[in-house]
Amino acid sequence: MERSSSPESDPEAPFNVSASLAPPRDIRTAGTTSTTFDGLLQEPLLLKEDLKNGCGGQLWPAGMILSKYLLSQHSKDMTGKSVVELGAGGGLVGLAVARGCEVGMPIHITDQIPMFELMKDNIALNNLGSAVVASILDWGEPVPSHIPSKPDIILAADCVYFEPAFPLLIATLHDLLGPNSVCYFCYKRRRRADLRFMKMAKKAFDVQEIRDDPNAASYSRESLYLYTIRLKPAKQPTTLTQISPPAQSPRSEIEK
Ligand SMILES: C[S@@+](CC[C@H](N)C(=O)[O-])C[C@H]1O[C@@H](n2cnc3c(N)ncnc32)[C@H](O)[C@@H]1O
Repeated sequence: MERSSSPESDPEAPFNVSASLAPPRDIRTAGTTSTTFDGLLQEPLLLKEDLKNGCGGQLWPAGMILSKYLLSQHSKDMTGKSVVELGAGGGLVGLAVARGCEVGMPIHITDQIPMFELMKDNIALNNLGSAVVASILDWGEPVPSHIPSKPDIILAADCVYFEPAFPLLIATLHDLLGPNSVCYFCYKRRRRADLRFMKMAKKAFDVQEIRDDPNAASYSRESLYLYTIRLKPAKQPTTLTQISPPAQSPRSEIEK
């Protein structure tokens, strides 16, 4: 399932950036993939893959890693939580969570217009129509009103690859993250520019590398990283009693 390729190198990707920036991808013909995420799901998830409308039409390693992490570490603690996936492509992560985690609430998988039909096809293919809702959410645009405004959980896999979209993704995270939200964020660092996204994210949010994933050592060798992103804790207002008087310097002692 692992592929060394870049979403940017796809000539049909929504953002067509020079292929010289990235190794060429092995273009796959449209088809359906079945996965249990190494046995984490009893009933396999079926994913229609079709690249004709953009890079989100195939499975990406970051999506597999994020899915496996959530299925292995969070299958029991998502009950009653609102979940929104950004840049879902065909919907891999959200669908995996819907099948393997006990959420009990509709999961919103979102992407741009070209991915809408594929998301809906994959929901139907897995008979998850009552558990997963596909929506269009363009980063930087207002969040549609039917999507939970400050969801408990935001999912994003392999959404860092096109620099002009970095501030848009940051803006959407700003819109969605509430004081109790956590974003599980998996990305593959393909080039130096990708670090700029993490720099922007660390400036805006509280970003922590996830350390409780037993598989981390193997995928970090492939430059894949898993983080949580939260709002930074609000600064406490300073009260007068918290301001201590300035310490007397030796000089002022002498001047007395
Ligand atoms: C490399 S694919 C990853 C798909 C999926 N998350 C996975 O891991 O398999 C990146 C996805 O981000 C989406 N995307 C890119 N720019 C976007 C934007 N400005 N707004 C919303 N989605 C965007 C693409 O359409 C694509 O589906």
